[in-house]
Amino acid sequence: MGTTTPKVIVFCGKGGAGKTSICALTIKCFMEANKKILAIDADPAGGLSWALGIFPQRTLDDLQHTLSLALHNKEVASTEQLYAIANYELLSTLIESKGFDFLAVGRPEAEGCYCSINSFLRHCISVVVQHYDVVCIDGEAGLEQVNRRVLDTVTHLVIVSDTSKRSVSIAKSLRTLSQDRMNPMQCGIIINKMGDSYCEVDQLPVIGTLPPSDTIVQFDAEGKSLLEIDDHDTYYTQLKEMIRHFL
Ligand SMILES: Nc1ncnc2c1ncn2[C@@H]1O[C@H](COP(=O)(O)OP(=O)(O)OP(=O)(O)O)[C@@H](O)[C@H]1O
Ligand SMILES: [Mg+2]
Repeated sequence: MGTTTPKVIVFCGKGGAGKTSICALTIKCFMEANKKILAIDADPAGGLSWALGIFPQRTLDDLQHTLSLALHNKEVASTEQLYAIANYELLSTLIESKGFDFLAVGRPEAEGCYCSINSFLRHCISVVVQHYDVVCIDGEAGLEQVNRRVLDTVTHLVIVSDTSKRSVSIAKSLRTLSQDRMNPMQCGIIINKMGDSYCEVDQLPVIGTLPPSDTIVQFDAEGKSLLEIDDHDTYYTQLKEMIRHFL
């Protein structure tokens, strides 16, 4: 492990489009393929942890706070020591679950300048990422969290959109943003919850469309982990086929 470049996939798109559900089910696909997986919940609202049935006690922002305090209290004598503390704390923030590891970004940053700490964290994350075959990052609607922390290592961007004009317009902006800042990489769009309605996507690189799913609604209502969805579920098998072609 660690000899091949990991796939680092970010799921982004308009609020409520289905990023978290699709990210969780993509993780299930990779679990089935026996890949070594790191799941990162980059949404401060913490949706992915629910979708995977993980409830983290500690997040990257707690880690950032710990490092900031250590610097402020002059407990760190050298850059090497800061790296050592950051690496240790990062490993203790990782949750090892059955079939994947999990990392939560946590709430938005508090006041103060974290620039130097962010660059340490970015470095530490890029090191950690090398230990996996695939890293799935559930992003916010924008790319803010991802930009700050793991941008350098992202290899694939999956933009999730529903059929609404606004959602497709956000998908276009994200695509443009990714072209400006995230080269070289692969970027594709999934149109989710596509019923009989028409959806104008212009020049967007569509990976595929997914139907409305009663199973997803039901799992959400019951607060059940999407990893428990039936392997033969129609929505899941369609997504699996799509992901297999794209990644
Ligand atoms: N294909 C689908 N059919 C029906 N409901 C769906 C489908 N995909 C997602 N949903 C539902 O839509 C809602 C939003 O889904 P999800 O949380 O995955 O989106 P999100 O983009 O991560 O949202 P947020 O921006 O709030 O994080 C949830 O209630 C989910 O159960
Ligand atoms: Mg979400």
